[in-house]
Amino acid sequence: MRTIRFGILATGDIAARLADTIATVENAEVLAVGSRTLEKAQAFADAHNIERAYGSYEELCADPDVDIIYVATPHSHHYENMLMCIEHNKNILCEKSFTVNADQAKDIAKRAKEKGLFVMEALWVRFHEPTIHAIETAKDGRLGDIRMVTVTFGRVSPDVRGEADRYNRPALAGGAILDLGCYTTHAIEMLFNEEKPVKILTSGTIEDGIDTQSSIILEYPNHKTVTMMLAFRSYMTRHFTVNGSVGRMEAIFPTCMNAKITMLSGECEDIALPQPENNHKAEIVHVVDCLNKGLTNSPICPIESTIQVMEILDECRRQWGLVYPCE
Ligand SMILES: NC(=O)c1ccc[n+]([C@@H]2O[C@H](COP(=O)([O-])OP(=O)(O)OC[C@H]3O[C@@H](n4cnc5c(N)ncnc54)[C@H](OP(=O)(O)O)[C@@H]3O)[C@@H](O)[C@H]2O)c1
Repeated sequence: MRTIRFGILATGDIAARLADTIATVENAEVLAVGSRTLEKAQAFADAHNIERAYGSYEELCADPDVDIIYVATPHSHHYENMLMCIEHNKNILCEKSFTVNADQAKDIAKRAKEKGLFVMEALWVRFHEPTIHAIETAKDGRLGDIRMVTVTFGRVSPDVRGEADRYNRPALAGGAILDLGCYTTHAIEMLFNEEKPVKILTSGTIEDGIDTQSSIILEYPNHKTVTMMLAFRSYMTRHFTVNGSVGRMEAIFPTCMNAKITMLSGECEDIALPQPENNHKAEIVHVVDCLNKGLTNSPICPIESTIQVMEILDECRRQWGLVYPCE
């Protein structure tokens, strides 16, 4: 196993968390960080014990010793940042939501494939053992026919103000659908694999250019219906239920920390797995493994799943008439 050298593109909240996570992973190191200003890059490098600091994203991408770039900018900038990575022949781990729409995701997938580069969305839920276990248990047949699924994910979005407010600014593709909807839709994709919805119905509330709450119904073949609710202005429950003909699985979303099965017969089973100390470590371990094996697509979070998720989110926004300034 060779050591995979990461470059971190941007110096915000999640970049800091991932820098510390990567440092704990065997055969991984953060070699460099790039920011729009050298001051921020240097401060980040000092805080996280990183050897090289660059005052532009381009310089980071041009570092010949960096194996993979971790893109941690707001949603609006992922596409242009990834284009730069590909231009410099860099493998990519890009934060959720991967892009703002499916066309951008398809274009990145095509360009990366042409150059034989690894590219993956950093969707930690797909690597989270308790969530994987809850979904696999719900799929193993004991619930009978899975018919109705509900997943609600909401929060009162942080009121950050100014340039750093990626949550509420249309210019940074803020709003609940890209921030939270990618998690709920990926969870459904994990449950139904490559199946595509045959019908999407949705109602969304748009305030100040972002979606602040929505209800989304996805109809799948064989009488399977998913109801998703996303909220950015409500202190909403975070709940995931998979309801079958003879039983149901219920859990807190997305960590599945209290997952349990309840059968029509009255039997109950606690299926919750212990929560890992760090939600991002398994994802980084996987990326290191993929690069060491020479893979260009992740078997756990494949680019095809990301594209399918983005297509569903696109259709919701189409029905709401929501277009971001960066599109
Ligand atoms: N996986 C997770 O659990 C998780 C959690 C939180 C966020 N995220 C995702 O990670 C990404 C970043 O989120 P965050 O919370 O870390 O955001 P953040 O704290 O606002 O940081 C974003 C960084 O992007 C850079 N940037 C480039 N252009 C920018 C612009 N026009 N406006 C503002 N910042 C700009 C800045 O770094 P420089 O100034 O150094 O260039 C900034 O520090 C988002 O896609 C988000 O959805 C994922």
